[in-house]
Amino acid sequence: MCGIVGYVGPRQAQDVIVEGLRRLEYRGYDSAGVAVVDEAAGLIASDKRAGKLANLEKALGVDGLPAATTGIGHTRWATHGAPNDVNAHPHLGAEARVAVVHNGIIENFAALRTALENEGHRLVSETDTEVAAHLLERAVADGADLTSAMEEVCGRLEGAFTLVAIDSQDPDRVVAARRNSPLVVGMGDGETFLASDVAAFIEHTRDALELGQDQVVTITRDGVEVTTFDGEPSEGLHYVVDWDLSAAEKGGYDWFMRKEIFEQPRAVADSLLGRHTEDGALQLDEVRITEDELRDIDKIIVIACGTSFYAGLVAKYAIEHWTRIPCEVELASEFRYRDPILTRDTLVVAISQSGETADTLMAIRYARSQRAKVLAICNSNGSTIPRESDAVIYTHAGPEIGVASTKGYLTQLVACYLLALYLAQVRGTRFGDEIATIVRELEEMPQHIQHVLDGSDAVYDLARRYVDHRSVLFLGRHAGYPVALEGALKLKELAYIHAEGFAAGELKHGPIALIEEGLPVFCVVPPRGRDQLHAKMLSGIQEVKARGARTLCLAEEDDDAITPYADEIVRLPKVSTLLQPLLAVVPLQLFACELATLLGHDVDQPRNLAKSVTVE
Ligand code: M6R
Repeated sequence: MCGIVGYVGPRQAQDVIVEGLRRLEYRGYDSAGVAVVDEAAGLIASDKRAGKLANLEKALGVDGLPAATTGIGHTRWATHGAPNDVNAHPHLGAEARVAVVHNGIIENFAALRTALENEGHRLVSETDTEVAAHLLERAVADGADLTSAMEEVCGRLEGAFTLVAIDSQDPDRVVAARRNSPLVVGMGDGETFLASDVAAFIEHTRDALELGQDQVVTITRDGVEVTTFDGEPSEGLHYVVDWDLSAAEKGGYDWFMRKEIFEQPRAVADSLLGRHTEDGALQLDEVRITEDELRDIDKIIVIACGTSFYAGLVAKYAIEHWTRIPCEVELASEFRYRDPILTRDTLVVAISQSGETADTLMAIRYARSQRAKVLAICNSNGSTIPRESDAVIYTHAGPEIGVASTKGYLTQLVACYLLALYLAQVRGTRFGDEIATIVRELEEMPQHIQHVLDGSDAVYDLARRYVDHRSVLFLGRHAGYPVALEGALKLKELAYIHAEGFAAGELKHGPIALIEEGLPVFCVVPPRGRDQLHAKMLSGIQEVKARGARTLCLAEEDDDAITPYADEIVRLPKVSTLLQPLLAVVPLQLFACELATLLGHDVDQPRNLAKSVTVE
C-alpha cells in the first residue's frame, strides 16, 4: 500500500503535503514525492526520491518547489518496479501537464502501456501508474476537464486503485478516484484535503468525507463534488474524526510502537466502554444481525491475516467454549481459494485493524457472494472492510501508526471476547451470572495490563542479555499457543531474526530437534486450574530445558511449580486461561521492541513491510 495526500487552499501546498506524508509514512517508505501546480509558470513542479521521506526533504532543501497552493504527494510501498527515483511517484504525462499519484495495482496496465507506446508515447518508469498519467493527460489535451478525464480513464482501468491528479492548466482543483483502495476527504475552512488516512490532515480538520467504491471526487478551496465513474452525481459519507493530533504523535516515546504498547490499558478500557450494562449483560447494539439470525448460526469462520489471524485463533477457544458453536479460523489469503462450505447460517468474522487488507476484503466479498453473513472487527472507522460487511464491532484502539500491531491486537481480543459472550447470551449457552463474572474480569484487565507494563524494565533487561541470539522459539498451549505465534511474529518483523511459535505439545513431534545449548525459548505458562494444561506445559518446559535450552517463562504470580525449570521468569497477574493472552503478549511486544531498538532497527518502519497490505 502507499500513502497519498492532495491539497487545495491558501497555504503552501508543499508544506501541507510533506507534513501529511510524514503522518502516512507508515503506509510505505520505499520512496516519496510531491508535485504542485506552479501557477505563475503554468507548469507542474515536482520532486521525488527513493527511500524515506527524509531523502525527499533533503532534496527539496530550504528553497523547495515554487510557491503553490495546489498539490499532491505520495509515499510508496513498491509493487511494480524497483524502489528507485524513476519509479517513485508522482508520475507525469508525456508533456508534463498532468501529475498523478496512485495507491493499488492497475491490473491491465501492460495492455494499456503497449497501446500507448504504439501511439508513440514514451513511458520512463516500470510502474503501472504511469499509464494513468499519460491517459489522463491525453484526455485533458483533447478538451476534457480533469474530472471528466478521470471518469473516462477510470472506466478503462482494472484492479485496485486510488488515483489523484493535478493539471497545470487547471490550477485550483485536485481530482481523485477510488476503487478498492482507501481515500478520505478533509473539509477545512477555505481549504480541502485528500488522503489515504485522516492522520494526514487531522491537524487541520476533523471534518471528513469517506469516498465509496468507483467514485470520483473533485476538491477545490470551496468544497467537494462527488461523481460516479459514469459521471453521475453521487455522495460520500460524512463523519467527524473522534481522535485528535496528539493521538497520532509520539508523545515523548522513541517509537510509535512503544507508545502504543503503553497505551494498551486505555485502549482495552475504551474498547469495553458502553458494551455492557452495570449488571454485566452484553449490549452490542452495533451488531446489526438480528438475535434470531444469531440463534440460527451453525458455524463461525474467522478470517484474517497476520496478527489479526492470531487474535482469531484466540477467538476460536472463547467462541467454542462459551457458545458451543463450531468455529474455524482461516488465513484470509487461503480462504476463498479452497471452496469453503458456506451457507446463510454461517457467520464469517473478519478481523482487520486497518480495514483495508486486500486478502481479507476479497475473502469477505467471496463469503457474501455465498450468502454467509459477515461481521467485521475493525479499528478504522469508515474503512472498506466494515463498509462491505453486514455488521461491525469497532475496536477503540485509536490510530495505530507502528507497523507492528500491538494495541490493535489487544483490542481485537477484547472484541472477540465480547462477541463470544454476546452470542452466549443470545443463545443461552451461558447463564447471565457466568457472563457477568467474565465481563467483570475483562473490566479488570486494564489495571492488570498496566501492572505488566510497570515491569517493563525487567523485560528490557532480558532483551539486553539475549540480544546476540539469532534464533528464539516460543511455546504455548491452548490460548497461549496463539500468543506464542504472535510473540514470534513480533520478533521476526522487528528484529529480523529466526523466531518460531509452537504448540508446546507438538514440540516432541519434530521441532524439538531445533533445541540446542543456550537457545532462548519463551514459554507461555497457562494459569494453574482444574484442567491438565499447566502440568502438560510444565512437561514441555522440562523437555526443552533438559536439552540445553534457556527457558524464559511467562507465568502467573504465585506459580512456584515453574521456578525450578525457569531460567528467567516474567510474572503475570492471575487471570483465567481464556483471558491470559491479553497479558501474556505484552512482555513479548516489549521484548521485540527493545531487541529491535538495541539492534539499531527502525522499529516503526521495519524493512519490506507496510502497515496494511492493500494488494493480494
Ligand atoms: O490491518 P490488518 O489487521 O488486516 O493487517 C493484518 C496484517 O497485515 C497485520 O496484522 C501484520 O501482520 C502486522 N504487521 C503484524 O504486526
